[in-house]
Amino acid sequence: MTVIAHVSDVHVDGTQRSAERTRAVMAYLDGLNADLDAVLVTGDIADHGRPEEYELARELLFASRHPVMVCPGNHDERAAFREFLLREPPSKEPSLKDLSSKEPVNHVRDVGGAVIALCDSSIPGADDGVLEDETLDWLSQVLKETPETAPVLVGFHHPPTLLHEPFIDGIRQFRTKRLAEIADSHNNVVGFLCGHAHTAAATTFAGRPLLVAPGVVSTLRLPWEQRAHPEDYVHLDQPPAIAFHVLDDTGRITTHYRSVLV
Ligand SMILES: [Fe+2]
Ligand SMILES: [Fe+2]
Repeated sequence: MTVIAHVSDVHVDGTQRSAERTRAVMAYLDGLNADLDAVLVTGDIADHGRPEEYELARELLFASRHPVMVCPGNHDERAAFREFLLREPPSKEPSLKDLSSKEPVNHVRDVGGAVIALCDSSIPGADDGVLEDETLDWLSQVLKETPETAPVLVGFHHPPTLLHEPFIDGIRQFRTKRLAEIADSHNNVVGFLCGHAHTAAATTFAGRPLLVAPGVVSTLRLPWEQRAHPEDYVHLDQPPAIAFHVLDDTGRITTHYRSVLV
């Protein structure tokens, strides 16, 4: 059995609020009775993509006793994400560094018999998302190299389907046909994980579960919830929350959602 904590949208911005919420979530995970196979943080890690936000996010997230994996969201900035959050060593060739810093940030890891592929769905300078051909080629290669017996979870920031909240639906992940085709040709892709929507939600994509992490920094206000004005998209008063995904030996996923007291 594999147990993964799924954290998203911490939006570290230098304020006490985002830091306290992120710290509370990570302290809760550190206080668990067992080691987790992984903690995934599916994007919008820094609110403005600034170096100092990533320095703080690094302290808050990577001090965890559990292995932590991250991918960027629309609020992140690839070059600063690499340099200040991941602390990837800079290239000796400035021109090469410039090129590599613009490439998508994709990572794969084996965790407790399962494979997690975290893809960069961000589009520099835009709020909606897409998996670039380079990322989809990378994902295809990961799946080719993974034994068919190993369940694979594919994560990214932007939900690749409608969640029925117009603001989020307008900045979701677009051009998702090839992602669905890749999943269709690999039966061991058992589910998709995303953030961005700041709401604990569950739906399907390509016939698999699509599990949406709640937001740490805020919670989406649904169209049928009270709004002070039409663009009042988020609850700021709801507690931060996370998901636990449990993957059993048959590759079936069970998700538990938890809110965390600050
Ligand atoms: Fe977000
Ligand atoms: Fe986002």
